[in-house]
Amino acid sequence: MVVAGTGSQVPERILTNADLEKIVDTSDQWITERTGMKERRISAPDEAASDIAVKACEKALAEAKVKSEDIDLIVVGTVTGDMLFPSTACVLQQKLGAPRAAAFDVSAGCTGFIYALSIARQFIASGASQTALVVGVDILSKITDWTDRSTCVLFGDGSGAAVLKAGTKPDTGILATYLAADGAGAEHLYMPAGGSRLPASVETVQQRLHTCKMNGNAIFKVAVRSMADAVRHLLRQTDLKLEDIKLLIPHQANLRIIEATTKLLKFPPERVFINIHKYGNTSSASTIIALDEARKAGRIHAGDAVMIVAFGAGLTWGGVAIRF
Ligand code: UT7
Repeated sequence: MVVAGTGSQVPERILTNADLEKIVDTSDQWITERTGMKERRISAPDEAASDIAVKACEKALAEAKVKSEDIDLIVVGTVTGDMLFPSTACVLQQKLGAPRAAAFDVSAGCTGFIYALSIARQFIASGASQTALVVGVDILSKITDWTDRSTCVLFGDGSGAAVLKAGTKPDTGILATYLAADGAGAEHLYMPAGGSRLPASVETVQQRLHTCKMNGNAIFKVAVRSMADAVRHLLRQTDLKLEDIKLLIPHQANLRIIEATTKLLKFPPERVFINIHKYGNTSSASTIIALDEARKAGRIHAGDAVMIVAFGAGLTWGGVAIRF
């Protein structure tokens, strides 16, 4: 199967580190040194996940030369869909005009796009699907506690999409996927209220329980181990060696996490794609925005093997090896 097209879209509004200095007790120096982030995109008050995702999808479909009516599967990785239900995949199905498509969302935190891509790959491999649209989108700004400096400087909004098509070209497309989870780490990254555990009430709103809570230090350690683990699993599943990977695209959560992972793997930093300075952590959208930008920037050529790895809430982690 082949990755026939990719697209990405971020909201217009830019929030810089200097802007954040006016909101919480932080500094450009702290954010830059501890995270590598300089600015991030923030959606408009009336802009929901599907509003930006639909534009990423249209770009991916145009590049793939696929008509929306030919899509038979839409899988969306997100934790901030338009609503708790129906799925944002169904909202997109309607907006795009894809009446033949089965549509559902996947909740895997920042690993959302990789989980979604892996599922779509299985649908195509089994013959159940011919043309799949895989989306990663998150609007974390809407579930951010803007009084909590330990999280609000980290997140940004964005979306990306990829079109997967059944194809017979051997050794091209998705070569391998690896998915993992450890629910014991759920407490390190979660949104307490708004589900059946703690439905919305005056108290949950007053206590800011509809916002993201994170134990950054605990996640940091797992992140480095798990992304390195994903790369090693993918190497074992394919005949690739580290030197065969033309570009490593890691989840953009923290530049220090990316650097530590690269060091652990002894992977050359010049072959690691980084755009965290522009967007911060866009959760499910992070790796597909990075993949799309890497392709459009000419960092990936026909025949190149690329690995994409991520970790996130769940905890979840995983990766995908693709040959273009
Ligand atoms: O996508 C998956 C989700 N999330 C992640 O991947 C995040 C993983 N974790 C991280 O990226 C890092 O742990 C953080 C960036 C969240 C934090 O960096 P750190 O180097 O682990 O800092 P820390 O939490 O140990 O905090 C160090 C200090 C603390 O002050 P004291 O206690 O040493 O006086 C914090 O209060 O930095 C302080 N601090 C800040 N200072 C200025 C925390 N946030 C800020 C801030 N500005 N925004």
